[in-house]
Amino acid sequence: MCGIVAYVGSRRAYPILIKGLQRLEYRGYDSAGIALITDDNNSIVTYKQAGKVSDLLEFIGDNDTNGSIGIGHTRWATHGPPNQINSHPHSSSDGSFSLIHNGIIENYSSLKKVLEEKGYIFKSDTDSEVLMYLIECVYKTQLKESKDICGDLFYDSIRIALNEVVGAYAIVVIDKNNSEEFYAARKGSPLVIGIGNNEFFVASDASPIIEYTDKVIYLKDEEVARLNKNQEVEIKTIDNKKKSADIQKLEQSIESIEKGGYDHFMLKEIFEQPKSIIDTLRGRINPKTNDIVLGGVKDYESKISTADRLIIIACGTSWHAGLIGEYLIEDLARINVEVEYASEFRYKNPIVTNKDIVIAISQSGETADTLAALEIAKENGALTLGICNVVGSSITRTTSGGTYTHAGPEIGVASTKAFTTQVTVLLLFALRFSQLRKTVDRENYDFLINELNAVPERINQVLNLNDSIEKIALKFKDASNFLYLGRGVNFPIALEGALKLKEISYIHAEGYPAAEMKHGPIALIDEEMPIVVIATRKDNYEKVVSNIQEVKARGGRLIAIVTEGDTEVKSIADHCIEIPKCFREITPLLSIIPLQLLSYHIALMRGCNVDQPRNLAKSVTVE
Ligand code: F6R
Repeated sequence: MCGIVAYVGSRRAYPILIKGLQRLEYRGYDSAGIALITDDNNSIVTYKQAGKVSDLLEFIGDNDTNGSIGIGHTRWATHGPPNQINSHPHSSSDGSFSLIHNGIIENYSSLKKVLEEKGYIFKSDTDSEVLMYLIECVYKTQLKESKDICGDLFYDSIRIALNEVVGAYAIVVIDKNNSEEFYAARKGSPLVIGIGNNEFFVASDASPIIEYTDKVIYLKDEEVARLNKNQEVEIKTIDNKKKSADIQKLEQSIESIEKGGYDHFMLKEIFEQPKSIIDTLRGRINPKTNDIVLGGVKDYESKISTADRLIIIACGTSWHAGLIGEYLIEDLARINVEVEYASEFRYKNPIVTNKDIVIAISQSGETADTLAALEIAKENGALTLGICNVVGSSITRTTSGGTYTHAGPEIGVASTKAFTTQVTVLLLFALRFSQLRKTVDRENYDFLINELNAVPERINQVLNLNDSIEKIALKFKDASNFLYLGRGVNFPIALEGALKLKEISYIHAEGYPAAEMKHGPIALIDEEMPIVVIATRKDNYEKVVSNIQEVKARGGRLIAIVTEGDTEVKSIADHCIEIPKCFREITPLLSIIPLQLLSYHIALMRGCNVDQPRNLAKSVTVE
C-alpha cells in the first residue's frame, strides 16, 4: 500500500527520495510524486505522475531537483483514480505547505464540507488533500488569533488538526519557509524515523533508510515528531504530552532487501525458505531435550494449557496458514481452533470472552482488518497473541505476546517465505501445546521434532526440481482456469496454491477440498481444465486417488504433487512432482514449494510482473 519517504539534512534530497521510492515499490502503488523545498528556500517544487517511479523519473527529466529537504510518496488509489492530481504530495491552498499521507481519513467528507464552507476549493478527490487543508486552516486560524506567535505554531496546528481526524494516517508535512525541519505523525499506519548525523529520514518501513543509518525510532500512534536537522528529535502526542524518543538499532541488512543475483524477489524468497525456516526454528528447540521454548508465549502457557478454544484471525495467505494451524493444533494438542477472516470477525458481533485466546497471524503486522479484529478481541477480555514477521509492527504492539517468524524482509508481493515460516511457528505452537496438555507421547513428539528439523534440507530437495517444474509450467501457461485440490492439512495448500497463481499470473484459479469436487466444481472439468492435486502419502491417499480417477474420467489434465516413490498416482496423472517422504503434519511445508514455483514460472511466461502484480499491495493498511 502507499509508501512514504522523506529526508532533511545537508545531502541532496532528490536521489535519496527516488531511491527510497524505488525501495518502496514492492508495497504496491499506482502513482508517485515528490516535493522539494528549493535551495532558495522560498518555494516548494512538486513533481507527480500516474504510473511507476520510472514514469515519474521520465516526467521530471532535467527539471530543477535541488534542495536538501523533501518528501516522496507512492500512492495506492483509494479516493479517486490514480491520476496526476490525486497523486501525492498535496500542497496547501496557498502553496506554503505540502503533505504526504498513508491511511484513510474516514470522516473526510464532513471535514471537506466544513472547509468548503470556509472557502477552500479542492483540486483532487483525495482524503489526503482534505487533511492538508485542515492543517492549513487550523494554522491560519491560530495565526490570526495568536498574540504571541511562537515557533511551535505549525507543530501545534498539525497536532490540533489531527485531533479532528477519524481514521488512520502516517504523514510528513513540509513548510516552504522552513528548510531545516519537517513534521511526521502516525496513527494506525506505520512510520519509521531514521537518525543520521544532522539529518533525518522518514519512511513507511525501514527499506529506504537501511543504507544510511541503523538508528531508528518507530513512531507510536497519535505521536507527532518535529525533525529539525540541527536539533534532537522532539515528540509530542496529539494531546500535547511530551514523549521521549525510543531509539532502537535496526537489525536488517542491505542484502536482505536486494535481489542477490535472482531475477525477481519472489524467486529469491522461494529459494530462501530453507534458511528462513532455520531462522524461525533457531534457539526455539532445545537440542538436548527437544523442548520448545517460545519466549513471547511462555507467560501465557498455563492459560493455553487449559483453554477450551483458540481463535485464529488473519487475511489472505496468513489465513491459509491459520487453517493449517487449525489442523495441526487440533490434531496434536487437541484444542478446538476456529479460524476467521479478520474482516468478517470484526463485523459479525463475534462471541469472544476472557476465556478465549485469539491469535493474529500477519506477515506485515499492519493489516487493518486484523488489527481491528484484535482490538475487538481485547475489548472483550481475550488474551491476544501475534505471529508476525515485521519486528515492532502495530500487531506486535497490540498483542500481549506472540512469536516472530524471522523470515526476513519479504519484498515480493506474493507471500512465500512468510507463509512457510508462519506454518513453522504454528507447528511449534501445536507441539508445545501438545507437551503442555500431554496429548502426544514422548516417542511421537521426538519424532516430530526430528521431522521439523529436517524440513530445510527437504525443501532444498524440492527446490532442485525447479527446472522440471518450469517445463510443466510451459505446458499450462495458456490455461484460463485452474482447479487445485487437496485434503486434510493439504486442503489449505490447495487454497494457497490457487491464490499464488491468480495473484501473479491473473489466471482464474480455485482451491477446493478434494472431496467437495463432486458437489459442484466437477461440472467445470473438461479437456481444457488443468487440475493440481496434492496426493501425498498418509493424507487420505486412497481417497485422493479416487478423486483423481474422477477427474481423469472427465478428461481433466492432471498435475499431481506426490510422495517420492509413488507409483499409483504416477500411472494416472499427466505430470507428477515428487516431494520427499515426511510426517503428515510436515507435508504442507514441502507441498507448497512446487506450487509457488509453478505460479512463478507461469506468470513469467505470460509476461506478468511477478514482484508487483497489478492492483495488489504488500501491506493492506486500509480495510
Ligand atoms: C498473498 C498475500 C496476502 C496477505 C494478506 C495478509 O500472497 O500476501 O494475501 O497474506 O494481505 O497480509 P499480512 O500477512 O501482512 O497480514
